[in-house]
Amino acid sequence: MDIKKLNDEGRELWNRKAKFWDGLFGDNGNEFHRRLVEPSVLQLLDLRPGETVLDVGCGNGALTRRLAALGAQVTAIDFSDQMIELARRRTDAAGLSVEYLIRDATDEAALLKLGQSRFDAIICTMALMDIPTIEPLFRAAASLLRAEGRFVFSTMHPAFNSNNPIFLHEKEDRDGTVVDHFSVKLRRYLDMPPVKGAGAPGEPTPHFYYHRPLAELLGSAFAAGFVLDGLLEPAFSAGDDDNSGRLSWSSFSQFPPILSGRLRHA
Ligand SMILES: C[S@@+](CC[C@H](N)C(=O)[O-])C[C@H]1O[C@@H](n2cnc3c(N)ncnc32)[C@H](O)[C@@H]1O
Repeated sequence: MDIKKLNDEGRELWNRKAKFWDGLFGDNGNEFHRRLVEPSVLQLLDLRPGETVLDVGCGNGALTRRLAALGAQVTAIDFSDQMIELARRRTDAAGLSVEYLIRDATDEAALLKLGQSRFDAIICTMALMDIPTIEPLFRAAASLLRAEGRFVFSTMHPAFNSNNPIFLHEKEDRDGTVVDHFSVKLRRYLDMPPVKGAGAPGEPTPHFYYHRPLAELLGSAFAAGFVLDGLLEPAFSAGDDDNSGRLSWSSFSQFPPILSGRLRHA
């Protein structure tokens, strides 16, 4: 796998869809973000006002601004200059203060320059699966964090929502009552090459997703000296299905589409 080539292509694609993403997310994120990502990350982060936080792969800064509004001193990085520009605009409009920087999460040396033991916490939401190599990020994070600092992530759940699961909707007439069954079919888990995915509905260009089985995902963090001390598997609730017939994660209340975790540097 040519990591540099894939990462460069990823940057170009994210730059091309930055405007779409900014429109989709607006100031506070889409429903998936507001219902699943943000609450789980805030719960695990347990932020105290005045803490220093690094947001890696910040996108248009929806969560970045939330942390700033909660009193954190936030530095936010993304390798897409277009995304950073849009995040800055929204943050200025909201009257919030955030340090935005264009940085590549695969560039360990550049990350280390952000400052040793500078951050109380690092967050990385819905970006690990977009990054072709995550070992450099975890190694740098171990140095950027203060002692006992936490690294909170959310990512597509590797067991249920990784690289294009097939959604199934079946109807059964059970003793005179029509019952809906929603299930997810997977063909691979352990060994899956990067594949392009359509992303959010309407996303203009597919980009590569990097599936990692749980042992590999968490193993990269463990190898850098982290331990896992918090884990959440948020899902939509039964009854969230809008009955439109369109299959989306809101119909699958038994399956968590994301996994959020808290790592601490041992
Ligand atoms: C799906 S968006 C998530 C944005 C935001 N964290 C959120 O939760 O809404 C993924 C973001 O990761 C960024 N990204 C992907 N690969 C990156 C890399 N190698 N270095 C820095 N940012 C990267 C993309 O530009 C994009 O903004």
